[in-house]
Amino acid sequence: MTRRKLIAGNWKMNGLNAALAEITAIGAGVAALGAKAPDVLICPPFTLISAAAKGSVAIGAQDCHVGTSGAHTGDISSVMLKDAGASSVIVGHSERRADHGEDDALVRAKAEAVLAAGLQAIVCVGETRAEREAGTAYEVVARQIAGSVPFATPGAIVIAYEPVWAIGTGLTPTNDDIAAMHGAIRRELAKSDAARAAVTPLLYGGSVKPGNAREILTLADVDGALVGGASLKAVDFMGIVGACG
Ligand code: 13P
Repeated sequence: MTRRKLIAGNWKMNGLNAALAEITAIGAGVAALGAKAPDVLICPPFTLISAAAKGSVAIGAQDCHVGTSGAHTGDISSVMLKDAGASSVIVGHSERRADHGEDDALVRAKAEAVLAAGLQAIVCVGETRAEREAGTAYEVVARQIAGSVPFATPGAIVIAYEPVWAIGTGLTPTNDDIAAMHGAIRRELAKSDAARAAVTPLLYGGSVKPGNAREILTLADVDGALVGGASLKAVDFMGIVGACG
């Protein structure tokens, strides 16, 4: 079983209507790569999903509520995201865990809501700098995997390893450290189901740029990237997409 590479962009709280032109340019760039292109996904803010989904690039969201509808002012459900044209939803990003106090149980419930809507869930895990320095990175990530990743049919779940200290900092773990953590995550998944572990794409995220993409994307057990800052401009993002070939 080969796992196709996936390059996903997380726009975070960035992007007005004018930025839709970047997604159009990414679509053109991917089409030009033809059969060599990896799977590509852009997760813009909620406000752009509907318009962005009219183009050729797969579109995802950055969060959702655990429910489907109801009295939850300001929240968006996975069913609504599907209706707007999203095919994937990121859940448990460290910025949601930190800024909104999301814990593993809530992240798992959100992932289950995403799966129930028939969408793909991209579940984020990753240690803080203090946890890395204390030598507990593996333990922390194993706990997050056990607590926030639901059992799902193959292909429905993607896991993104994003060390918190590498996000938006220009810092990345060494290649050996990335490969070792991805291997540990796959072994952790295999504890409950080896077949599922073998087909679950594992993305690396944290300061992925055109300049370091190729070396990261060729590491063992790295099946793609979750890209923040470098996904906002088509030229940068395509530098990463092109590094898969
Ligand atoms: P950067 O690529 O800006 O470091 O962000 C990574 C990230 O958080 C993607 O979800």
